[in-house]
Amino acid sequence: MILEANETNIEKAVLALKEGNCVGMPTETVYGLAADGLNPRAVAQIFEIKKRPSFDPLILHVASDFDLSGIVKSIPLQAKQLMKQFWPGSLTLILPKNICVPDLVTSGLSTVAVRCPDHPVAQTLLKSFGGPLAAPSANFFGRLSPTSAQSVEEELGKKIALTLEGGACRVGVESTILDLTSGLPRILRLGAFAVEKLEEILGEVEVVTGSTIEASGMLDNHYAPRIPLYLCDHLGATADQTFNHIACLHFSQSVTGSNHLSLSLDKELTEAATSLFSSLRQLDQSGASMILAELVPDVGLGRAINDRLFKASAGKARWNGKKWCLEKR
Ligand code: TXA
Ligand code: MG
Repeated sequence: MILEANETNIEKAVLALKEGNCVGMPTETVYGLAADGLNPRAVAQIFEIKKRPSFDPLILHVASDFDLSGIVKSIPLQAKQLMKQFWPGSLTLILPKNICVPDLVTSGLSTVAVRCPDHPVAQTLLKSFGGPLAAPSANFFGRLSPTSAQSVEEELGKKIALTLEGGACRVGVESTILDLTSGLPRILRLGAFAVEKLEEILGEVEVVTGSTIEASGMLDNHYAPRIPLYLCDHLGATADQTFNHIACLHFSQSVTGSNHLSLSLDKELTEAATSLFSSLRQLDQSGASMILAELVPDVGLGRAINDRLFKASAGKARWNGKKWCLEKR
């Protein structure tokens, strides 16, 4: 059930959360599946609904006036400065956790991920609720993240109390996850907050990719549509209507036909990020048997977009002059 985010319905959502249920919550990045972050039974429901493995920890979302000392042991100086400057915003910080944070939230880690979302509905909900809300993206584990209330309802509607309407997500890719608890700053997930901006502030920043799982976004297969997705450097003129079974995701080319979508005609990476997941969803449902997606320039938000595309992909596609040759990864 999608509910307009007015006072009455926010109260309904708060009540559902206090009773240990899950609700769909809009944020500026993607929609979250929120539950009381300090109630292990409520948190357990998130894992059940999403079919998420319990080794994958959750982010605690807080209101902008929330006193973090209740959930973290200490805050490194650099983290304090970043919060002051960029919260609310799409930067998630890894901090040493307090005992009151359930182990299920952190998958037994001694740290907890904390984020203050920059969306008026999320902020109102968090303030009315009065505590931290654990919220992963509101999709089945490993699938495309939802960027509209409609997408949440289509996938999880039957399993959750309600979803608050918050419009289309302004950013469209998940928050950047930064770990400042272990010496050199480490980015555990590329995301909405550009690496370049963090480097300006913090100096050298390590971008950790690979398979030592600390963030599920580090898993090799994630954010995936149902039909296989293959990546290429340029779709160009080869992607014409003759390939009806192939749906194409272009970066900036102007396109026609329902099997072809373009992320940003103006070559704007912020616009491309906003439409990434909704475009992939649309192509996934287009009736085609595979998606061919063009990589975007690998700078700023483009790094997060390419990261999502890579993790959602089954392999690479190469045009040999006559047809696309697929290479599984
Ligand atoms: O933009 C976002 O961050 C969205 C919206 C809903 O806020 N949330 C989101 O949550 O993307 P989720 O659960 O899909 O991704 C959270 C990531 C996971 O990859 C998880 O492994 C990582 O955060 N994470 C959580 N706690 C961690 C910790 N203590 N150390 C390292 N990684 C952690
Ligand atoms: Mg997710």
